[in-house]
Order: sequence, then structure tokens, then C-alpha cells
Amino acid sequence: MQPKVYVTRPLFDAAFVELKREADVEINSEERILSKKELIEHLRDKDGALTLVTDAVDLEVLESAPKLKVVANFAVGFDNVDIQSATRLGVTVTNTPGVLTETTADFAWTLIMAAARRVVEGDRFARAKNFEAWGPKMLLGYDVYGKTLGLIGLGRIGKAVARRAAGFNMRVVFYDPEPIPEDTIKRLGATPLPLDEVLQVSDFISLHVPLLPETHHLMADRTFALMKPTAVVVNTSRGPVVDEKALVRALKDGRISAAGLDVFEREPEIQPELLEMDNVVLAPHIASASHETRLKMCTMAAENLLAVLKGQRPPNILNPEVWDKRRQ
Ligand code: GLV
Repeated sequence: MQPKVYVTRPLFDAAFVELKREADVEINSEERILSKKELIEHLRDKDGALTLVTDAVDLEVLESAPKLKVVANFAVGFDNVDIQSATRLGVTVTNTPGVLTETTADFAWTLIMAAARRVVEGDRFARAKNFEAWGPKMLLGYDVYGKTLGLIGLGRIGKAVARRAAGFNMRVVFYDPEPIPEDTIKRLGATPLPLDEVLQVSDFISLHVPLLPETHHLMADRTFALMKPTAVVVNTSRGPVVDEKALVRALKDGRISAAGLDVFEREPEIQPELLEMDNVVLAPHIASASHETRLKMCTMAAENLLAVLKGQRPPNILNPEVWDKRRQ
């Protein structure tokens, strides 16, 4: 009998051709997030699951799926999966690193430019038929060229954002708790600084850290207070890295000038105050949403899933301990 696989949302058929040859693939046909109860029900008899960042794969879900061997997450982030419990239960977890790096970096820049130059506000202004005459002081923003870009996190995406800054003749500073090789720092022309100093000297702060206990509310009252009043903060990482209430206070009090947000603390909810603010650019978690990249992510997730079902170590494994244990 073929192994059974569940895909939690309609994705890209082209990515599933091989998987469908080797497994009995059931795909949720509805464009909505499954409830926990539904997820449990669908995974109960499955050998593999292809999940999204919106699926909370917690202990209860994992324990209710006794045959489950693999959770292939369609994302580079994996805070939606309880990796520790999966490892304990012998379930392999995989993600999709690399393929979305450049697309996400493009989008961090989209938010930087849009927030600095008030693009979305300008669009709303024009659509409201308020553009009656060119004005010398109309919708003034801040220059990006020649300014200082501060990166919090210099992983794959942080580095890709840094590379793009060269075209804007920017000084790039960064904070990363992990040691970054000297040649990488040199190649990027970036300067490592303590977190507080990055916040103090930067005109633009872009967040590129995973969501961990240490990064939860990394941007809060204390850290916003260190930023320049003209500074812009951009988040394409994970919502809870920013304390949204503190962000609202910082924007209202003029402690920073603008924000660009692709992710939110309690997605899909957005703080009502943020919805009312003109100096905030909001996007519905679409940083990796290009035709090319989403197809690559889907293909990668399907390959990871299929490898495990075939008894092979998947290329993008997050809990290698599961495989190391098997070998003993
Ligand atoms: C999307 O948020 C991802 O982690 O890939």
C-alpha cells in the first residue's frame, strides 16, 4: 500500500508529480486555515504532512498521528512546529531554506523604500482624488541613498539585504549573536556592532532573526527608545519579534518615523491602531510570495517529504537527531 500524505492547503500541482507517483496524496481544496480539530482529523492516518506556517503542529497534533514520519513545512521559518516533541516522537521535520532568500530580501527593500518614500500613502492620496497640484512639501519622505542600514540578524536573508545596500551607497551595520566569518563581513562591507549601537546609529532597521525565546519582543519600548526619531523599522521575519503595542507607542510618540510590516504578532490579526496609521506600510505576510519562489518552496517541501517516505535522509532536515538515532 502506498504511504498517505496530507497537504494542508491548495498549492502547486506541478510540484507534486513525483510525490503523487509514490504516495496517496490528499490535498485540502479549501483556501482557509484548518482548525486544530480538522488538522488532527486529517493527519490521523497519514504518513506524511505538508504544512504551512499557519498550521500549528503541536504535541497534541503529533500525538494524534501515530503513523506520521515527516512534517515538511512550506517555509524557511518553523516556529509553527514543535520540533522537540517531533524529535521525541521520531517525526522528521523539514523546511525550505535558500530558495526564498532573494525574494524575501527584495521585499524587505520594498518595505524600506515604500515606508521611507511614503509610496502607499501617496497612492491612497492620489486615489482619493486629493492630488490637486504639485506641492513642494507634499508627502516628504526620507532619503535612502547614502544612509545607514542596520540589520538585526545576518543570516541568509540578512546578507542578501546587505548586498542590495551597496547600490544605495549605504553604510551597513549589523548585530548577530552568532559569529560571522571575517571574510563575509569584509565582502559585504558591513560593520558588526552591539545591538544597542546598531539601533542608535541606523536610519533603517531591518529584522532578520528567527522567532526564539531570545528574539521574542526584541523590538520593545527599550529598543525603540534607542532609535533615531527619523528611523524606519521593517519586519519580514516573524511578528512576535516586535512588541506591536510598543511599536504603536513609538510611532505615536514620534520616537521613530515609520514602519514596514509583513508579519504580525497574532496573524492574521493586526493591531487596530496600526491600521489607522499613515506612516505604517502593511503587507499580509507576502515577502516570499513570487510565482517563482512559491513554486520552488513547494517543490522543495515535496522533495523533503518524499525522501523521508522512501527511507532517505531529506535534504533540509531540521531535527537530524531523528536520523542519527535510527543509525545507532
Ligand atoms: C515564511 O514566512 C517563511 O518562513 O518561509
